Amino acid sequence: MNKLQLIGPFTQLLPMTGLPLKGALKDEQLPIIENGGILLSRGKIINVGVFDELKSDDVKIYHIEGAHVCLPGFVDSHTHICFGGTRARDYAYRNAGKTYLEIAKAGGGIWDTVTQTRKASQVELAKGILSRSQKHLKNGVTTIEVKSGYGLSVNEELKMLRAIKQANEISNASLIPTCLAAHMKPKDWNHQKEYLEEIIATLFPIIKTENLAQRVDAFVEESAFSPEEIKPYFQKAKEMGFDITVHADQFTTGGSQVAVDFDAVSADHLEASTEKEIQLLAKSNTIATALPGASIGLGCAYTPARRILNAGGALSIASDHNPGSAPMGDLLTQASILGTFEKLSNTEVLAGITFRAAAALRLADRGKLEAGAKADFIVFPTDNYQEITYHQGQLKPSEVWKNGEPIN
Ligand code: NIG
Ligand code: FE
Repeated sequence: MNKLQLIGPFTQLLPMTGLPLKGALKDEQLPIIENGGILLSRGKIINVGVFDELKSDDVKIYHIEGAHVCLPGFVDSHTHICFGGTRARDYAYRNAGKTYLEIAKAGGGIWDTVTQTRKASQVELAKGILSRSQKHLKNGVTTIEVKSGYGLSVNEELKMLRAIKQANEISNASLIPTCLAAHMKPKDWNHQKEYLEEIIATLFPIIKTENLAQRVDAFVEESAFSPEEIKPYFQKAKEMGFDITVHADQFTTGGSQVAVDFDAVSADHLEASTEKEIQLLAKSNTIATALPGASIGLGCAYTPARRILNAGGALSIASDHNPGSAPMGDLLTQASILGTFEKLSNTEVLAGITFRAAAALRLADRGKLEAGAKADFIVFPTDNYQEITYHQGQLKPSEVWKNGEPIN
């Protein structure tokens, strides 16, 4: 049986290979294969190169007609797409000038989503994740990180993580789960220290046994957990073999120092980071993740992406898709807009949603089109890759391939 398949020719094929993980990138550095093709078998890439040179009698050809640009499937390294309810009222209140405290007093904020998520069953949550991830997939996002964090008790966090696992078994996109039990201090616990101890003692072992997540996140912020409060939590998580990621420097600084101290895989948000935090991150192994969807949703400053890259940092760009601060959930739109405000090259934007985002999830098998990688790739109906960010998310992929199969 013929197992090799050749897809192409693509007017431009952007393999996103040969580029550094860290630092600024110029468009002159972007490798472009003209009239490119992808040779694949059993969901994996066998070779990438010029279409005509990959042709042989042994391969079955899947012909691409007309002008097209091909690049790796996008990776969204930070989302909260497991939730119940809506926070449209928060959004309206914020835009009417109400303060964070006024919104919380009116029953809004993260706790509102906790209440609504607790009311939902595991199956209902899984359905919500599936419909959101299918929408992401249509927009070219083939790998999506998904956090818990709206349960805030052992059982409710478990319900969320099991819903993510359940959705992942059906979803065409890969879902990468993260435990965010330390999202805020649960209002129904008097002593948050005991809450974190309970999570460590009871939830972490179940997560391990049921293989529900390999990553632990926390919101380090004045309104959530202080660096001092979170250190023993991360210490224990690390000892148990979890990767650490941090919601850091969103409104006040402190989180990125914790991230670097724990050699976290990523520090996300960073809207409030100053030169000190930028230098700290740039010198570390921790990937800085910008979340422009939260800046757009809250009407706040963008992460200083330009300065992070100029300082030599690694920059991932993620949607933060959640019902509160980032309801839009369109990664390409947000990454393109971040590019205009932060003066990022096309290569920096595309790197931020492909191989640099994959690195933020410690996934070496995607985000690049090269031999051995997953055959996750997307195709845009244009002859020029510059059109992709130019249309700010309105140019949609005409084809999305996941594990060597066309979706839709
Ligand atoms: O990443 N910053 C903390 N957590 C989320 C917001 C969650 C929410 O508002 O529901 C974030 O923006
Ligand atoms: Fe977030």
